[in-house]
Amino acid sequence: MAATVRPEVPAASRAAALVGRLTLDEKAALTAGVDSWHTAVIPRLGIPALRLSDGPSGARGDTSPQGVPRTPSICIPSGTALGATWDPDLVAEAAAAVARQALEKGARVLLAPTVNLHRHPLWGRNFEAFSEDPVLTARLAVAYIRAVQGAGVAATVKHLVGNESEFERNTASSDIDERTLRELYLLPFEHAVRVAGVLAVMTSYNRVNGCHVPDDARLLAGVLRGEWGFRGLVMTDWFGLSRTAEAARAGLDLEMPGPARSYGPALAAAVRAGEVEEARLDDAARHVLELQERVGGLDAPPGEEAPLDRPEDRALTRRCAAASIVLLANRGLLPLDAGALRRILVVGPNATRPAITGGGSALVVPHYRLTPLQVLRDRLGPGCEVVHEEGAGEGGIRRAAELARGADAVIAVVGTDPDVEGESFDRVSMDLPGDQDALVSSVCGANPRTVVVVNSGAPVSLPWREGCAALLQCYFAGQELSSALVDVLLGEADPGGRLPTTLPVRLEHAPAFGSFPSESSHVRYAEGPLIGYRWYEARHLPVAFPFGHGLSYTTFEIGPPKLSATTLGPGERLRVTVPVRNTGGRSGSEVVQLYVAPPGGGRRDPGGRLRPVKELRAFAKVHLAPGQAAEVELELGERAFAYWDVADADWFALQARHPVSVTHGHDAPLHRERAGWYVDPGVHRLLVGRSSADIAHAAEVSVSGGGEPLDPSLPPD
Ligand code: GLC
Repeated sequence: MAATVRPEVPAASRAAALVGRLTLDEKAALTAGVDSWHTAVIPRLGIPALRLSDGPSGARGDTSPQGVPRTPSICIPSGTALGATWDPDLVAEAAAAVARQALEKGARVLLAPTVNLHRHPLWGRNFEAFSEDPVLTARLAVAYIRAVQGAGVAATVKHLVGNESEFERNTASSDIDERTLRELYLLPFEHAVRVAGVLAVMTSYNRVNGCHVPDDARLLAGVLRGEWGFRGLVMTDWFGLSRTAEAARAGLDLEMPGPARSYGPALAAAVRAGEVEEARLDDAARHVLELQERVGGLDAPPGEEAPLDRPEDRALTRRCAAASIVLLANRGLLPLDAGALRRILVVGPNATRPAITGGGSALVVPHYRLTPLQVLRDRLGPGCEVVHEEGAGEGGIRRAAELARGADAVIAVVGTDPDVEGESFDRVSMDLPGDQDALVSSVCGANPRTVVVVNSGAPVSLPWREGCAALLQCYFAGQELSSALVDVLLGEADPGGRLPTTLPVRLEHAPAFGSFPSESSHVRYAEGPLIGYRWYEARHLPVAFPFGHGLSYTTFEIGPPKLSATTLGPGERLRVTVPVRNTGGRSGSEVVQLYVAPPGGGRRDPGGRLRPVKELRAFAKVHLAPGQAAEVELELGERAFAYWDVADADWFALQARHPVSVTHGHDAPLHRERAGWYVDPGVHRLLVGRSSADIAHAAEVSVSGGGEPLDPSLPPD
């Protein structure tokens, strides 16, 4: 997918003219919110307030002092569920529905998407983010942002950067080396800015390498605005600002929420004291007004909230939820034949309390919600007795086992909930809460026709996974979770999900196990670029289910890829065509995944660089009827073969003083003077498959490069 040219912010706009007419105090007033969700009004010039609204799973709109939304919202699948769809087009449809609802609530800025990465299974907000992989995250974020902004609402990509734990999130420092920052944690933000043209960025609460992001000139002025050319608005996370002059000089524009504390009048005073150039204040005020102008917010104040509950939005959310459900294992049980069922047992807490989203600012109150138990009873009708036993607590396990015997099937819906997975806290265990593991083992032992549905936002331990006849991962899939789940269980929808994150065998195997969360206020990203599957592959660790894994009710054959060339030179792009056929008897969807394996991947090269075994670089989802075939077109630019070299100024300085000979036992130089994206020359392998562990075909391309960094203007994809 070639990058589009970033939509330029109009230069001579009304905003620029307005800034020229504002007093210093009026400009400063615009740099801070006036309450939780609104920017300042400037009556003298007829500038209305601009309303902002959370969040990634739905437009919350205004909230009570306790943070409870005042009106209902469409609740689309959460980030991880969207990630599990691997379907940018579907994500775009869902995001557009959220944007429409934002406008119905008078909000023209949506505080979404969340593009932090699933660094560790216990991060409280994993559910809100898309994936462990930066490319999957980036592609879905671009689709989300383009759809929201295409509906006339500004998207706000968040939280820049290194917000992968909640414990002491306002004070801890995410200590991330530059190569890991660039290749992983900054990559989705780079795509959001350079490919999607996102209009707003939200800084994170945490420090990065000791510096609070709102105060970090290297990140904001240097990377975001200088390197990537971002010309939109930079806002804080809520109550995330503690300094005035440092943040202003770094490039922060807007303090949220109001009333002003470190910006507003304090910023005016800093300008008068000569600590901040007035030109920087002009920029900040202009960024606020340009954002307002770009989304039509200069002409009228926000209206009353009037959210609609549309049938088409319900249908879309249901389709999106089914596309996010991952069939991890199926030993002949699914789909269930509704006509043959006379008595089934339903157990587990989430059968009556499904987790449709996680806790915190992403939580919305849906227009309505159903439970899996309700929907099963409704859909199976009077011909099938649906017995329910939650199975919790004393005697619950025993009752459940007794009821399981003799049932035509058992459906165990287990998982977490917003009190277990949410904002401002991390989980302390990967195990299912309470005695759910015992419940699952008990009913699986009592009835071999047991399907287990794990309803969680992040990985959970699956100690009983070999003992159930079928296993589904159902993320926080939004308001239509229950209907979509039953659609899948009864075969009326194909389970379209593929894992956006590895499911580890045990927590101790996780990449960040030794460095999560913070210790003495520091989170050391010690695993470097080996996030997720990159770690398990480099360490040869077994996993419960690999990144990208997911079964369908039909089968597919992926044929050998055809390459537009077998070499790739500077400035060139490679097209990869992959044939796919539905070889089964039902319609279904397949996700063709393309990984790049660099020369020497998985081992340290002579320069000491450790390249992952392979990295996801492109993917496409196809929907095929039985016997239907298609050709998937993928495209790779030079960045797909590149890594970030932090350069080695020390070595060159030492060489200048005391030259030592260096044996270049490697095609690429061991030491580089300039930091940047580099490609090591040599044969790279293109691995095509249906998961990181299920590669169908390999091809080779010879890539030139090595000496000079890639042109920074090259698109990131
Ligand atoms: C929260 C979240 C952020 C959200 C904001 C407003 O603390 O970190 O994602 O948009 O505050 O609720």
